[in-house]
Amino acid sequence: MPKNFDVVVIGGGPGGYVAAIRAAQLGMSTACIDEWKNEKGGPAPGGTCTNVGCIPSKALLQSSEHFEHAGHAFADHGIEVKSLSLNLKKMLARKESIVKQNNDGILYLFKKNKVTFFHGRGSFHKSGNDAHEIHIAGATEEILFAKHVIVATGSVPRAFPDLPFDEKLVLSNTGALALNEVPKKLGIIGAGVIGLEMGSVWRRLGAEVKILEALPTLLGAADAQVAAEAGKQFAKQGLEIELGVKIGAVTVGKSDVTINYADGKGTAQKAVFDRLIVSIGRLPNTEGLNAQDVGLKLDERGFIAVDGECRTSLPNVWAVGDVVRGPMLAHKAEEEGVAVAERIAGQHGHVNFNTIPWVIYTSPEIAWVGKTEQQVKDEKIDYRTGSFPFLANGRARALGDTTGFVKFIADAKSDEILGVHIIGPSASELISEAVVAMEFRASSEDIARICHAHPSLSEAVKEAALAVDKRALNF
Ligand code: FAD
Ligand code: NAI
Repeated sequence: MPKNFDVVVIGGGPGGYVAAIRAAQLGMSTACIDEWKNEKGGPAPGGTCTNVGCIPSKALLQSSEHFEHAGHAFADHGIEVKSLSLNLKKMLARKESIVKQNNDGILYLFKKNKVTFFHGRGSFHKSGNDAHEIHIAGATEEILFAKHVIVATGSVPRAFPDLPFDEKLVLSNTGALALNEVPKKLGIIGAGVIGLEMGSVWRRLGAEVKILEALPTLLGAADAQVAAEAGKQFAKQGLEIELGVKIGAVTVGKSDVTINYADGKGTAQKAVFDRLIVSIGRLPNTEGLNAQDVGLKLDERGFIAVDGECRTSLPNVWAVGDVVRGPMLAHKAEEEGVAVAERIAGQHGHVNFNTIPWVIYTSPEIAWVGKTEQQVKDEKIDYRTGSFPFLANGRARALGDTTGFVKFIADAKSDEILGVHIIGPSASELISEAVVAMEFRASSEDIARICHAHPSLSEAVKEAALAVDKRALNF
């Protein structure tokens, strides 16, 4: 017996589950279909982010940072750790339990908000009437009719040509988060966000890590000063990053992987690794949607083609998150999901792409919002900058973590904040102040005149804003 809904969401990642909750909050009958399975074959909503992305990676980053700190960082505080050992099994079990808490939390939220959840794969089918017909295959077999459909099917890791992931020796993010022993030599192709975060985890736990990056510069999307500081800090930690490489033949043996490559100078090199992570970007996931059959258009790169408000080529079919253009970030997916639910309800949902923060959870953390100095220069904007090092911040000294700085970029005439770049302790949290400020189109003077608690890391944000006008007080 077909079921009718106002809104059917396909995909239960951060884009889809949040869209479903918001649609239900707005009084629409809503269903969410997600196919992710836990190890027992049961539902595991939350998508890439919850299952093999944001959440488990941050759990392992935290655990591995504790391990590294216990090894050396506590001695300064007068805390002596006599013997230190790693129980990787327990560390991974902790990560899994955090994932499960998040899966269960989403199922609870669905119940609370009266979202009907279906476990299985949803696909479009030609319908005889105005409603969209969605078939569910998998644990649940159902046919749904929907006035509106939101596609939030996310993304999948991009494999290196002719090097499929086996998740034993050649790992995607899934395998990289579940290694049951610390490899002696870990190779990583791609010094992007995953390469740096996962490289940090396994280096802290004892692996010798080499990252091979095709581009001649590290973190090209970040402000150049931040990227330079990051490169310096990673090198100090022993995270070896080779830039400007060209990967040649890759041979997968019984227990190792050999990579032939040309280094930045064009010299032939060979490296043998126990495990290889391939993190060279992600691809939109439209497999199994039956998009072609119903005329749902994809763009030339395989993303679902949408307009600025996430409308697809089909009437009342919307798409959000990693499966459409724009940054592949969980919070971008969520914002689009909420905005679409509100548009369906006749409201004016909107997403400001200029104020989406970026965070890389390495140590030091890296976070930014808005334009880099390279961008404002290229755009010929007259600008001023102000920077403040954590070395001059009392709270950072008390923490024992004085790496990095905060940097403001402001319009020279209006003083409007154009970008804020942070590398250092708690950058992931500090960036929110800059996001709020930019959303309200604040000037650097506005931040400089706001009282910040003392002693706090956030004082470095205020001081960097003061520095735009060359009147930092503590540096
Ligand atoms: P997804 O999370 O990919 O969810 C899509 C869901 O749809 C999946 O559950 C999938 O199984 C399901 N699905 C697909 N097709 C169908 C179908 N036909 N029927 C039913 N279900 C279907 N972003 C951040 O902002 N911060 C981070 O710290 C961060 N860390 C990351 C770490 C790693 C290792 C990785 C890989 C990614 C990370 N990301 C991070 C990116 C983030 O995970 C994605 O941007 C986010 O998950 C996108 O959300 P989404 O809802 O668009 O898609
Ligand atoms: P990425 O786009 O961040 O980095 C890929 C890197 O691989 C780039 O530096 C690229 O130049 C390099 N590369 C591509 N082809 C190569 C080749 N043939 N040889 C060597 N290097 C090559 O992609 P990544 O790390 O796979 O992550 C995917 C996405 O997941 C990110 O773009 C991000 O949106 C999201 N993510 C976000 C996180 C966060 O917000 N903290 C954490 C992890 C992932």
